[in-house]
Amino acid sequence: MSLFKKQQIVLASGNPGKISEIQAMLAGHSIIPQSQFCIADAEETGSSFVENAIIKARNAAWHSHLPAIADDSGLVVDALNGAPGIISARYAGSGASDQENLQKLLGELQDIPDAQRSARFICVLVFMEHAKDPCPLIAQGIWEGRILQQPIGTNGFGYDPVFWVPEHACSSAQLSAGVKNSLSHRGQALNRLTQLIKERECDQWLY
Ligand code: IMP
Repeated sequence: MSLFKKQQIVLASGNPGKISEIQAMLAGHSIIPQSQFCIADAEETGSSFVENAIIKARNAAWHSHLPAIADDSGLVVDALNGAPGIISARYAGSGASDQENLQKLLGELQDIPDAQRSARFICVLVFMEHAKDPCPLIAQGIWEGRILQQPIGTNGFGYDPVFWVPEHACSSAQLSAGVKNSLSHRGQALNRLTQLIKERECDQWLY
């Protein structure tokens, strides 16, 4: 069995939606949320998803002395020049709820017609073997869609109720967890990341 499967890995997130999706997709692995080690969220001082994911992974690896996976993700809306982007979790202000962020988004887009409401979810995942890992593994996933005029659906979290998924003609919050994970930015990034981890393990075995 690979080291990745046997080893405990700390997940650098306090977001229950992300935690349940990542744990479901990595079922069979020991993925432990950082809250179980009493690790506080790192301050997201980067100006890109990649920078923030590295900051979070390093913080979790440093405090836990374990390998870490971090997720930095968000919604990029073309009509808003890429907003909310890296501040998706706090679009309506620090400590804002998912509902407040979503209402702010709908307000900003109120005069924008359907044809101009294109958007995408982005997820960057980082795997770091330890806090001083000089070569963190980085994987990105992108999920294209459109922003609805009104929320619909109760599954998922965050902006899912306003994210229209053209392939299924419904919102992301109307998809089952399994279908969302098979399509989503996070699912795509996780597939890529597990591939990169396997490749690194093979390299380490060979040399
Ligand atoms: P982060 O914790 O700084 O990475 O913020 C991520 C934020 O992006 C979340 O709090 C959500 O608002 C949004 N987000 C990321 N992924 C998803 C998703 O799969 N569904 C809905 N919203 C998401």
